[in-house]
This record gives sequence, structure tokens and C-alpha cells, in this order.
Amino acid sequence: MTRRHATPRPSNAAEVEITDLSFLYPDGSIGLDGLTLRVPAGERLALLGPNGAGKTTLAQHLNGLKTAQRGSVRVDDMLIETATLPIIRQRVQLLFSSSDEQLFMPTVAEDVAFGPNNFDLDPELVDERVASALSAVGASDLAGRVPHRLSTGEKRRAALAGILAIQPDVLVLDEPVAGLDPAGKRQLAQYLGQLGQTQIVITHDLSFALELCPTAAIINNGRLQAIGPTVELLTDQELLRQNSLDLPFGFRLDRLDGTPSASAKRPGRRKS
Ligand SMILES: Nc1ncnc2c1ncn2[C@@H]1O[C@H](COP(=O)(O)OP(=O)(O)OP(=O)(O)O)[C@@H](O)[C@H]1O
Ligand SMILES: [Mg+2]
Repeated sequence: MTRRHATPRPSNAAEVEITDLSFLYPDGSIGLDGLTLRVPAGERLALLGPNGAGKTTLAQHLNGLKTAQRGSVRVDDMLIETATLPIIRQRVQLLFSSSDEQLFMPTVAEDVAFGPNNFDLDPELVDERVASALSAVGASDLAGRVPHRLSTGEKRRAALAGILAIQPDVLVLDEPVAGLDPAGKRQLAQYLGQLGQTQIVITHDLSFALELCPTAAIINNGRLQAIGPTVELLTDQELLRQNSLDLPFGFRLDRLDGTPSASAKRPGRRKS
């Protein structure tokens, strides 16, 4: 995030369209390999896949931290490219997989206020946004604390409050529940579930994905493997096995109302 003043703009859900996106790291590691994926405006999509699948690499392309070597990313009708980055960084907010990279102000409240302050909002409105974002993630009591002295889960909450306070059109959350306790996880799922923005939620927590995201995509080796209703992907044992995914011990998908059996076909899947 840069210290730059810009006119605040109202937030709306936006469509995200990723087309044939490829990214090779300088050492030759494949980050993304021709990934194509469309996330309709307002959808909450869980992005699943094993370690090294390319999830974080993809997230970094969605707000321009990395630029496409081949292919493209569009947010509504706006192509992500150098000229559009100032607007894209208002419209798309990324929760980094490491909170230490995201928190840098002397107190949590100042950190959460940093984004809204960039948009020249009325100070009272900034205070309101800070209070409401901190409350949403159950972190009101952390407002006066020094970010780098917080626990892992507390840092996660503070970093998340910081991006929520900006009220972007698209939230890209890289492992938002890593380090959160079970109550914090549930509270977060309930809060995010009420927001109207497009959400791309990277997680290894399949029960959180199921609770929050009606749709899921599995990526592996930098490519899309499957996309469809989360419950259907998570009942496909073979698909899970092929992608090193596993439901938590004792987790019974067949106990959920309306859940198809493990052998169900996948009629609801869509091409991306
Ligand atoms: N800075 C880097 N330099 C070289 N290779 C990298 C770098 N960052 C990631 N990679 C490689 O790119 C591939 C995709 O990594 P990425 O971090 O996107 O995976 P991920 O799906 O987010 O994994 P995880 O679940 O472990 O967070 C992996 O093979 C990884 O080793
Ligand atoms: Mg990652």
C-alpha cells in the first residue's frame, strides 16, 4: 500500500476474469501455467489446492503485486496493467498469507485507519470504519496494541480489519483463518458471509470453505483442476485425493441438508 491520496469511491461487487494466466519464477519454478478462471460479481469462491499449487501466486496477480507474463486478469472491464494499478489497488484488497508483511503502523487502530486515510475520508468516517472493521473480526480490544507484539491469530484479525476498512469491490484472502481459534473462525465466516463483495478465499480449511463459499475451485501445478459447488467438489473422493485434499477427521458431509452422496455426479460444475 502506498501513501497516496485518492478520491474515495463507492464499493461494488466486481467480476474477476483470469484468462490463460502464466507465471514462471526466475529459478524456473512454475507459479501459474495457463490458468483460466471466472469469478462472477458477488460470488464467494474458495480457492483450494495443495502446497505449491499456485494459489498465492494467483492472489498476487489479482491486485497487481505480480504482473502477468502471459494471459490477463480483468476486474469488470478493467484490465490489470500498469496504467490501471492505482484504481485496481482500491478495488481489490489482498490479505497477505503472512500478517507480518501487512502490519506496519505503531498501533492496530492506526494500521486499520491507514487505508481509509489514504482516501481523504472525513476523520469521523475513518474512526467509524476502524471501529466497525475491528469489531467485525472480534479485535476491538486490540485497537491500542502494538501490532508486532500480537499473537499470530491476533495479527491475522488486525490485518483483516485493515483491508475490510477500505471496503473494496473484491476481497482476496490468502489463508484468512490460519491461526484463528474455532470461535474466531466461525465469527469470521458469519461476517464475511454477510458482505456483498466478490470474495476469493484461499484456504486449507475445508470446513471453513464449505461454510463460507458456495463455489470452490481446485488448482494444482498452476492450473485449474475443477470448479463447482463446494459441497460437490468436497464429496468427490478421487478429486480430493488427486489434489492432496482431505476433509477433517470425523467430518461428515452426508449429514448436511441437501448434500449429495459421495458418489453423486457433478451436474452443477461450470466451465470457467
Ligand atoms: N519466490 C519464489 N521463487 C521461486 N519459486 C517460487 C517462489 N514463490 C513460490 N514459488 C513456487 O511457485 C509455486 C507456487 O507457489 P505458491 O506460493 O503460489 O503456492 P501456494 O498454492 O500458495 O502454496 P501454499 O499452500 O503452500 O501456500 C511453487 O512451486 C513454489 O515453490
Ligand atoms: Mg500460499
